[in-house]
Amino acid sequence: MAYTFERYQRSADHIRERLGGIVPRVAMVLGSGLGFLGDVVEDPIAIPYGEIPDLKASTAPGHKGRLVFGRLAGKDVAVMQGRMHHYEGYGYDDVSYAVRVLRLLGCETLIVTNAAGCVRTDWQAGDLMLITDQIKLFSESPLRGENLPEFGVRFPDASHLYALRLQKIARETAADMFISLREGVYFYCYGPQYETPAEVRAVRILGGDAVGMSTAPEVITANHCGMEVLGFTLLSNMAAGILDQPLSEQEVLDAAEAAKDKFSRLVLGCLRKL
Ligand code: HPA
Repeated sequence: MAYTFERYQRSADHIRERLGGIVPRVAMVLGSGLGFLGDVVEDPIAIPYGEIPDLKASTAPGHKGRLVFGRLAGKDVAVMQGRMHHYEGYGYDDVSYAVRVLRLLGCETLIVTNAAGCVRTDWQAGDLMLITDQIKLFSESPLRGENLPEFGVRFPDASHLYALRLQKIARETAADMFISLREGVYFYCYGPQYETPAEVRAVRILGGDAVGMSTAPEVITANHCGMEVLGFTLLSNMAAGILDQPLSEQEVLDAAEAAKDKFSRLVLGCLRKL
C-alpha cells in the first residue's frame, strides 16, 4: 500500500481534533521495557492505534498499541506505546506510518528505543547503547515508491540519521547520572526468527554492534521528513552463538524489566534537556 499525502493528513486531522490544542514537539517510540513510560505521561490523552485511520495494530508481546499525548519531563510529547514491525506482516510504509503523522502534528524530534542482541563479545547483556548509526542493507526502504515531496526529497542524505547534537546531550546526561553508555551501530534484521550464529558473525564483520528487528525503518522515515533522531538500545541478550544457550523472548523481556529504571532515567534525563 502506498499512502498519499492526503491519507497522512486525514490521520493527523483525526488526532488533532482530540488533542484540544496540544502540539507535541517530541515523539517517542517505546520498545520492549520502556512501554511503561507511556503510563506516566501527565494529563494524558491516549488514543488506541485502532481508532486512528490507516494506523495498523501492534501485535508484538509487551507492546500496548496506543499513542499517548501529554507532558513528560516538562515537554509536550507524543508517545508510541508499542510499534509495528515488518515481521508482523506489515509493509515498511505501514511500520513508519505514524512517524509521518506525528511530524504533521508538530513533532520535530524522534526518540527511539529498542531491545536488541549484543554482537560485541567485550560488552554485556544489560548494557545500554547510544545508537550512532544503523545498517539496513537487506530489505527495501520505507521510502520506496512515489516520493511525497511534502515530506522530503527523493534521495535523502543519510550521513547523520542520528543527530550529532542529540548524541552529545545523551553522552552528557549519561555522565551526569553515572550511567555507563556504550556507543555503536544498530544492525537491522527483519526477523521474526533470531539470527543464526553465522549471521551474527556476518553482522560483526559488517560493522554492527547490536542486532534487532525494529527502529531502522522509522529512523529513515524521520530523517526524510526533517526530524532530529535520538536512539537508545538496551542490549537485552548476547546475540546468537556467543553464549552456549538458545535465545528466548522471555530473556529479552526479563532484561528489559531489569533495566527499566536505568533506561527510563536516561531517556527522561535527555528529554528534559532537549
Ligand atoms: N536479535 C534480534 N532482535 C532482538 C534480539 C536479538 O538477539 N534481542 C532482542 N531483539
